[in-house]
Order: sequence, then structure tokens, then C-alpha cells
Amino acid sequence: MIRTARSGAVLEIVIDNPPVNALGAEVRSGLVAAIAEAEADAGVSAIVITGAGKFFSAGADIAEFGKGMADPQLPEVCLAIEHCLKPVVAAINGTALGGGLEVTLACDYRVSAGGAKLGLPEVKLGLLPGAGGTQRLPRLVGVTAALQMIVSGEPVSAARAAEIGLVDIVVDGDPLQAAVDMAGSSLSPRPISTAPVAGDLAEIDAFVAANPRLFKGLEAPKACLEVIKAAITLSGADGFATERRLFLALLASDQSKALRHAFFAERAAGKIDGLPNDAAPRTIARVGIIGAGTMGGGIGMNFLSAAVPVTMVETNGEALERGAALIRKNYDATAAKGRLTAGQVEAAMALLHPTLDFAALGACDLVIEAIYENMEVKKEVFARLAAFAKPGAILASNTSYLDVNEIAACTQRPQDVLGLHFFSPANVMKLVEVVRGRETAPDVLATAMALAQKIGKVPVVAGVCYGFIGNRMLIPRQDNALALVMEGASPEQIDKVHTDFGMPMGPFQMTDLAGVDIGWHRDPDRIDTLKDALCAQGRWGQKTGAGFYDYDAKRQRSSSPLVASLIEEFRARENITPRAIDDEEIIVRTLYTMVNEGAKILEEGIAQRSSDIDVVWLFGYGWPRYTGGPMFWASQVGLAKIVAALDRYADRAPGFAVSALLRDLAAKGEGFA
Ligand code: 3HC
Repeated sequence: MIRTARSGAVLEIVIDNPPVNALGAEVRSGLVAAIAEAEADAGVSAIVITGAGKFFSAGADIAEFGKGMADPQLPEVCLAIEHCLKPVVAAINGTALGGGLEVTLACDYRVSAGGAKLGLPEVKLGLLPGAGGTQRLPRLVGVTAALQMIVSGEPVSAARAAEIGLVDIVVDGDPLQAAVDMAGSSLSPRPISTAPVAGDLAEIDAFVAANPRLFKGLEAPKACLEVIKAAITLSGADGFATERRLFLALLASDQSKALRHAFFAERAAGKIDGLPNDAAPRTIARVGIIGAGTMGGGIGMNFLSAAVPVTMVETNGEALERGAALIRKNYDATAAKGRLTAGQVEAAMALLHPTLDFAALGACDLVIEAIYENMEVKKEVFARLAAFAKPGAILASNTSYLDVNEIAACTQRPQDVLGLHFFSPANVMKLVEVVRGRETAPDVLATAMALAQKIGKVPVVAGVCYGFIGNRMLIPRQDNALALVMEGASPEQIDKVHTDFGMPMGPFQMTDLAGVDIGWHRDPDRIDTLKDALCAQGRWGQKTGAGFYDYDAKRQRSSSPLVASLIEEFRARENITPRAIDDEEIIVRTLYTMVNEGAKILEEGIAQRSSDIDVVWLFGYGWPRYTGGPMFWASQVGLAKIVAALDRYADRAPGFAVSALLRDLAAKGEGFA
């Protein structure tokens, strides 16, 4: 865990705790012991602390949080380093995050490798830097630069760190020798804690005014401001005490528990239970996409951006040209925002091969079908594809709902077939549901997971059922939202409950964005439902300027009097006397019912673990991360409360058959694992 070695009169202390050199109990006590050893040894004149491998340290061991951490605590470790009478130099060999960076701040000098990233990401876990970082950083780099790092949680490069004074020297390659040389050059100790803070309270106000979105719905960023204020206004000791108090309060908060859950859930989702060890991924050198629509193009962009060549096939020349032009337009828009260079755009576009020749798919190692949702057409395409595709090529459907086993059955190579369900816009949204068919081969699954990670996605394995994980859970939510409108709620009220909860949009705003006409029978004379009525009037959502809401040319939303009167008409038609519906009922019927569906998904083995369901909602639908995802949130609310509420509304609207698993866990007083 902690190794020491002598280089002349310099003691090298190496943090060696793979995979990321997290600062668990043994590392903390080892660091304190090594510092004491150096203090006691008259032959040691200076100390260097570094990390083994590619990380300096990723900070505190997050898995220890909430379990009662053994002494010494990290603030004490940092104090032991800072109080050491011999100079201590940090050799930042690689990424230093959170408590890892705080250890370097307790050192007197910092030498960094050019490729290292330095950051205080605690806020992303609902915390604040709790080992003196909030008190030392503003003293070292000034209030504004410290605010930027602590409140955003974003790391800086070594070059930027040198610019703001966070590190003294940046070197190419391993900084250990440079640090040892520096330590051996009769340095004096230079503790940061006793230096004055460079900056004032006005910088905090200016930062808050310039960055409102960093604070939305979140507790930790506000607490970060408070501790930086304490660094400016209080004595050193009181500042450190304030940091400790607020850190411990955040550690116990629901938001931090949820964000820590999300951190581990995201990493667990990439693992497939029971996959044989010999399921080595297949090589994917070229990807084929069938369909040059918005979805096909968006999917293709992910691969182009990761330098994987793409063959994009269409049946019609105009659609093909439009698709390729849309890809270029999207890249140009990103370049205009400064997030890509012109050279990167051209490099990506050069890898795109648009063609009308279906046989070109024969050169691809993975082909993703991204045409419209029609089983018969998809089956035809797959049967044809199976004839062209080379042996061992993986055949994937981007279907959102349809039966992947049925599609696979018409290929005579069902072991090569799976679903890859991307979320719209596919070049932006991080989620991919990897749909495992009955006969999908283990190495096909392993390939899909690895490839999805390579293109920067978060893959989640799902079994075959209507709508897989995410869209299946949408069904009770959307059905109940519509039923609630018929019973007396307004779309605005329901949407507001969802946006107040932290969702980026409510059920009706989402319908307008996706298209009210999805699944419509297209017969304007057949009006059975409110949605039929909207579609018959051309109110297909944002794309036609009107849906449940009206939209102006800039797609700004406003309430529609026409929709309000249509709703009245429909209620009258069905003899419904509208009643007042409170927000609590909306939560029960549109969110608890989703949890219930999630429990059924678990029960049926469609999802591997409840945290995978959370990941689907966090990354596919913008569920507020600070609640951890629907299943974690439900466990926090209490499953017994959820079951009781579902039972209370059991006679109303669809989706209320309570899952046996949910009922069972609730009866035992447990949550989802
Ligand atoms: N504690 C415990 N485990 C950690 C960890 C940490 N700080 N950081 C990473 N891990 C684990 C991951 O869970 C994963 O475990 P697994 O293989 O069993 O799934 C393994 O290390 C590798 O992590 P990644 O898959 O994320 O590897 P990457 O190379 O993609 O990313 C990383 C590495 C950038 C370090 C990323 O893991 C990361 O961002 N870690 C969290 C850093 C962080 O938030 N630090 C602050 C901690 S809080 C703190 O320090 C409090 C202090 O102020 C008192």
C-alpha cells in the first residue's frame, strides 16, 4: 500500500494501491507512519510523495464512506504532512483527484507530469473537499480559480495548473526524479495553511451570478461556497473546522448517498454477470449503418468520432445525401462552438462512406439497422443482410420496442444478432441498451459492451421484452399521465411536478418533443383518444409547431387554450366530472408506477440488477442524478410507502398491478439492493 525508498537524503514515499491508489485506511496510516519515519531519521533531509502506476491518487476510497472510517482520517494525514519539519515535495505522476490532490496541497512543493489531470471532483459525489482542500486551494491559487475547481468539480490540465500556481513545475514523463532533485536542493518548508487567502467575497458573488446552472437542485455546490467564504472570513483553524462540519453533514445527506450510488452503478452496468471468461471481443474495424435518418446518422457519428470507418446505406439517393449532409451539419455546429477543430471534422467525414449499394455491408464487422419500427420490414432487411454480411459479423437492430428474438430468427445466425438501442439524439445521449437475444453469443455481447464504452457510451444489458428497460417503464408513466388529464389534471400541472422533481421535461413536454403522432393509426376520421384528436388537427408536437402545447418559431412553449377545450370536450364525451388532483397523486401514479414496472423488469430478469435500471434512467432520460435513479430513489422513499400508495390507487387507471418482488421487499422492510 505504502512503499518507501531512499534516494540519497530524500525519502520517497510511494502510494501503491491499485487500481487508482485510493486513500483507504491502510494507505492513510501508512502515509502517517512514513512521515513519522522521515521525521525521526536524521539521515533524511526531505521527502517526496508519489503514486505507483498511472494515477497519483483518485482520492478517498469512496467505498469506505458511510461505513465508519478507521483513523487516521484524511485531514489528519494532510496535517501530518504539512506539519512535517522537513520539506515535502509531491511528484504528481498522473491524475490526482479529490483527497489525492489534497495530499499534494499539504506538501510544500508540487512537480507534475505533463499528462496529469488535477481536480477536486467531490461535488459530483454530493460532497466538498474534506481534507483541507477548500482552505488550502484558495490560499494557493486565489478565490476565483479555487471556486472554479471546487464548485464545478472539473479537473484542470497540468499546464493550466502551472498557470494558476497550483503546481511549481511541469515535466515531460515521470516527475519523480525532478521532485527528488528539487527536494535535495535545500528547500525550506512552505505550508499553505498559514498563507493569506488571495481574493474576497465579491468573487464568490460574481462566480454564482456567472454559473447558475451549477447550483440547480443541488446541496453540495452551495456548501462549497460556504466553506470558501469561511476560508476568506475566518481564522485558519475555524475555516478547517467549518470544512469538516459541512463535509460530514454532506456525507450523511441523501443527495450524496444517491450520487455515490450513481458512481458505482455506472461502473457496475458495464459488467455482465455469468459471461464466460473466454468471451473475448470480436474485432470491429468497420461499422455499417442501414438507414441515413436522424437516428442512423447520429449512431454513425459516434463511430466516426472514435475513428471507426462507417458505411451508411440507404435505398434512396436523396435520403442518403440528406443523411450525410445532416452529419456534416452537426459536426460543423460542434466546431462552431469550439469543441472540434476543422481538421477533426474533416477527419471524421473522411471516414464516412455513404452508398446505395447494400452489398457494401459485406465489408463491415458490425451492421446496425436503424430504420423505422416495423417488424415485417426489419425481418426482410435482416434476412437480406444475413446473406451479405461476412461470417462473424455482428448484426444489430436499433429497435426501441420490437422482439429481437423474432428478428434474429430470420437470419440463420441468431448467435450474431442483438439489439443496440441508442437514445435520441444518438450522437449526444450516453445510454445504449444492449439487448441480449435468446441466442446472442457471449462474445457478441462482450464486443457490444466494449465497443459502446470505446465510443463513450454507457451500455446496459437488457433482456427481450416490449420496450426493454427504459421505454417499458415509460408506458405506465405516460398512460397514467394521460388518464390523470382525463380525470382533472392539466398537462402543465403534471409536467411541473416532473420538472420540480428534477426531470429535464415532463411527460407531455416529452411527447411533444418525440412526436405526438408516434404510434398514431393515421386515420384523421377515427378519433378515439385525446392524442388522436391532436394528431387529426396536425398537432404532432414541436416539429409541427403544436402538440399538447403551442410553440413559436424558436420552439418556446406556451399553454394552448385549444388543447384545454379539447380536454374538456373529451371529459364530457366520457361523462367524467373533473376533480382536483394533488401533486402527491401525480407522483404516485406517474413515478411510483414506473418503480413498480422496474420491479417487474427485475423479477423477470430483463435487467441484471436494480442499479442498471437506475443507469438507464440517469443516462437515457435525464433522471436527476442526485436522487440516484428510480430504484434507488424508491428505496430511499421506502418501498412500504410506495406499495401502500399504489394499493390506495389500485382501482384507478392502468399499470397498478403491484409487482410481487416489490411487495415482498416492502414487507421485509428492504430496499432494492
Ligand atoms: N474510491 C474507490 N474506488 C474507486 C475510486 C475511489 N475514489 N475511484 C475509482 N474507483 C474504482 C472504480 O469503482 C473502479 O472499480 P471497478 O473496477 O471495481 O468497477 C476502478 O476504481 C476503476 O475506476 P474507473 O472504471 O472509473 O476507471 P477510469 O480509468 O475510467 O477512471 C478515475 C479513473 C478518473 C479515477 C475515476 O474512477 C474517478 O473519477 N474516480 C472518482 C474520483 C473522485 O471522485 N475522487 C474524490 C473522492 S471523495 C474524496 O476524495 C473526499 C476527500 O475530499 C476527503
